[in-house]
Amino acid sequence: MALHGRPLIMQLISLVMVAIEAASDQALPPQALPGCPGRCGNLTIPYPFGIGDGCYLRQRFNITCNESAHPPTALLADGSIIATNISLDEGELQFWNTIAHDCYDKQGNQTGSTSNSPSLQLNPPFTISGTKNNLIAVGCDTSAIFKGNFQYPYDEARYILTCMSICYNLDSAVNGSCSFGSSIGCCQTGLPNGLKNFTLTLGSFSEYKDVIWNFKPCSYAFIVEEGEFTFFPNTSFQELSKNQQLPVILNWEIQDGGCAEAQKRHDYACKANSRCVNRTIDIRTEPSGYYCQCLPGFEGNPYLPDGCRGVSLGFLVLLVVIIWIHWEMNKRRIIKLKEKHFKENGGLMLQQQLARHGGRVDTTRIFTSEELEKATNNYHESRILGEGGYGTVYKGTLPDNTMVAIKKSKVAARTQHDQFVNEVILLSQINHRNVVRLLGCCFETEVPLLVYEYITHGTLFEHLFNNKNGKRSSLSWELRLKIASETAGALAYLHSSTSTPIIHRDVKATNILLDENYTAKESDFGASRFIPLDQTQVATLVQGTMGYLDPEYMQSNTLTEKSDVYSFGVVLAELLTSKVAVSFARPESERSLAYLFVSSIEKQCLIQILDADMVNEGNVEMLEQVANLAKICLRVKGKERPTMKEVAMELEGMRTTAKHPWKNADFYPEETEYLLGSPNSKSYIEGKGEVSSSGSVSRYASMQNEMLKSYDDGR
Ligand SMILES: *[C@@H]1O[C@H](CO)[C@@H](O)[C@H](O)[C@H]1NC(C)=O
Ligand SMILES: *[C@@H]1O[C@H](CO)[C@@H](O)[C@H](O)[C@H]1NC(C)=O
Ligand SMILES: *[C@@H]1O[C@H](CO)[C@@H](O)[C@H](O)[C@H]1NC(C)=O
Ligand SMILES: *[C@@H]1O[C@H](CO)[C@@H](O)[C@H](O)[C@H]1NC(C)=O
Ligand SMILES: *[C@@H]1O[C@H](CO)[C@@H](O)[C@H](O)[C@H]1NC(C)=O
Ligand SMILES: *[C@@H]1O[C@H](CO)[C@@H](O)[C@H](O)[C@H]1NC(C)=O
Ligand SMILES: *[C@@H]1O[C@H](CO)[C@@H](O)[C@H](O)[C@H]1NC(C)=O
Ligand SMILES: *[C@@H]1O[C@H](CO)[C@@H](O)[C@H](O)[C@H]1NC(C)=O
Ligand SMILES: *[C@@H]1O[C@H](CO)[C@@H](O)[C@H](O)[C@H]1NC(C)=O
Ligand SMILES: *[C@@H]1O[C@H](CO)[C@@H](O)[C@H](O)[C@H]1NC(C)=O
Repeated sequence: MALHGRPLIMQLISLVMVAIEAASDQALPPQALPGCPGRCGNLTIPYPFGIGDGCYLRQRFNITCNESAHPPTALLADGSIIATNISLDEGELQFWNTIAHDCYDKQGNQTGSTSNSPSLQLNPPFTISGTKNNLIAVGCDTSAIFKGNFQYPYDEARYILTCMSICYNLDSAVNGSCSFGSSIGCCQTGLPNGLKNFTLTLGSFSEYKDVIWNFKPCSYAFIVEEGEFTFFPNTSFQELSKNQQLPVILNWEIQDGGCAEAQKRHDYACKANSRCVNRTIDIRTEPSGYYCQCLPGFEGNPYLPDGCRGVSLGFLVLLVVIIWIHWEMNKRRIIKLKEKHFKENGGLMLQQQLARHGGRVDTTRIFTSEELEKATNNYHESRILGEGGYGTVYKGTLPDNTMVAIKKSKVAARTQHDQFVNEVILLSQINHRNVVRLLGCCFETEVPLLVYEYITHGTLFEHLFNNKNGKRSSLSWELRLKIASETAGALAYLHSSTSTPIIHRDVKATNILLDENYTAKESDFGASRFIPLDQTQVATLVQGTMGYLDPEYMQSNTLTEKSDVYSFGVVLAELLTSKVAVSFARPESERSLAYLFVSSIEKQCLIQILDADMVNEGNVEMLEQVANLAKICLRVKGKERPTMKEVAMELEGMRTTAKHPWKNADFYPEETEYLLGSPNSKSYIEGKGEVSSSGSVSRYASMQNEMLKSYDDGR
């Protein structure tokens, strides 16, 4: 991740930049009508104002841009006012108004004054903002008289205001002390809303002749935007003498009466995502007009269709982009992880091996983790078929409705991945009707997943021991013999008939699955080990299931095929007795079925531990025969046990005889011995009576051929 992070981060930053740009674009939608100039010089001209025909809402919002002035000036319709800022937020417009001044020399001669007292005459829909402006008078012998008239419909009532300032010197004057009421050097007072015109007259108390007034600076009076003038006793007079103008805020409105009326009109000016605000002198009076505002969360021009846009839209875009980036990074991370797992789990090796073996690729599929997640409904609990030390088996449904069993190992195969791969390759080559077929695998997950064919009827263990309502096992002796014979055949095949012998290592009732026809399917090769052809023994950690574990293997740690034979002997004993391999419910001496079983035979009391139902089926002779076979499988010394092939053929023979009892007549024990062909075989044919139900030489010989042929066909 760290190695590949840099280009990703660059990509991320550029994406965020794009997102922010997109977001800020959203925050600054066009302010003018389409096709109209949006600016005059640096001033934005927002609709309802506009430059040129058809660009403004009403004639009063007609703006002329004087391009020949430097900088270009935006003149209101009547040409008397130069707009310096037009704000839609509260329907305001800023312009610069002249300052009234009055200066005298020591003789009391007027040395300079605004020729006519400054006045302002506004046309509708403009009025002087009372909220945003103050009347200020500056001087030491100053009275400013403000006379204004309200706008229609407020009866054009008159409004008069005075502001006075008297001082002998400015030493006691304080910075910014121009508060409401009279003060030293400066006077400030508020204004009402809704005035359409005013005159401002400066006067003096002393008539500028009083000798007391040694100190007599000029008097100034003006209306100014709040916060745009601060009184500094040492500097303000000087500044005011240079300045001719100060900013003033005007209100404008759509003059169709209040919102209630306007909303009924077809030319109602507030567009989508905006609201109407009454324009009144104060809350007690009837509105003279209205202006529009974008709704909270929106920004832009409420007078334009689609002018108000969600500020949050930009954030939404940003959010979406961030989520997308996060998702993309996560995807990359997962892909990297999958690749890592694939490598660690030996997926590459398997691919190579499969390619080398040729032709097997189509039968052993490499599944993607998505496929298997989908098949198991994301490994949902309800899909669990079984759990154990090896891991968990899930039931899955592939897109073509094939049922599969998916085995999720508990331990990552990382440490021994080449062995794992070899096992997968070997298992993929097994095509035996009594071995659960490996359909494919998946290496993209942390632990490799194996996909097997799904066997419908559960395990032999369930059929033998997990009987609900205390019912006895429903498996007849015939079925049990069939299962034993098929299992033995499968193990014999694994031991001898594959190119590299495989030792199952965990033969037990829970690993023998049954399909709907009670066909046995050997499963779970998780612990299995293959033995290279030039070796007959493999030293390995003891692994297996208690009760089935070969005692010799436990002692020597040396694994041979005979370990499976021992375990199979335990399974045979289970089939005969319907007793579990290990049960702590039994007395201590009887806990191990293998021990109990062998000692019962030796004590000549086998019949007591056999399943009564099996005995009742009336095959006591054959039961004894199978019991003896089990006994020799359970021999402590591996060398003395028969091979799986011998066991399989013995059982197959018994099955055939059980089906066709009339063939018993042909049986001779010597021939069986010859057929089994093992130097050890003699030792397990104990007593002629016990083997008297086997078949003839010729039949065995042909059967052996057939079996070998079928193994060969399967590969
Ligand atoms: C207009 O804006 C530019 C750049 O922001 C600035 O340099 C210029 O002084 C401005 N002109 C006026 C008249 O405000
Ligand atoms: C807008 O103002 C300009 C310049 O003052 C003027 O020529 C034009 O006729 C005005 N338009 C209207 C519709 O009054
Ligand atoms: C435009 O500006 C120039 C230069 O300031 C001025 O001479 C002229 O009178 C102005 N025109 C209008 C219509 O105000
Ligand atoms: C214009 O008015 C708006 C709103 O009152 C204000 O935020 C902005 O700073 C003003 N622009 C200038 C150039 O004074
Ligand atoms: C101004 O002062 C001069 C003397 O400095 C005086 O002669 C004159 O009458 C005064 N009045 C006016 C109105 O100029
Ligand atoms: C008044 O304001 C001016 C300008 O900011 C500053 O230089 C001066 O020190 C201030 N005087 C007092 C008394 O605050
Ligand atoms: C203000 O308006 C009133 C009423 O229309 C008018 O009588 C008065 O002369 C105007 N004052 C100025 C200075 O224009
Ligand atoms: C104004 O200036 C005088 C000297 O010019 C100085 O003594 C005084 O402290 C200043 N006052 C303020 C408020 O800055
Ligand atoms: C506007 O004023 C009218 C009349 O006073 C009132 O009925 C209406 O509710 C007000 N509308 C808004 C949006 O304030
Ligand atoms: C079970 O046997 C029936 C009848 O022979 C056969 O049609 C069916 O395919 C068998 N089922 C399986 C899973 O082999």
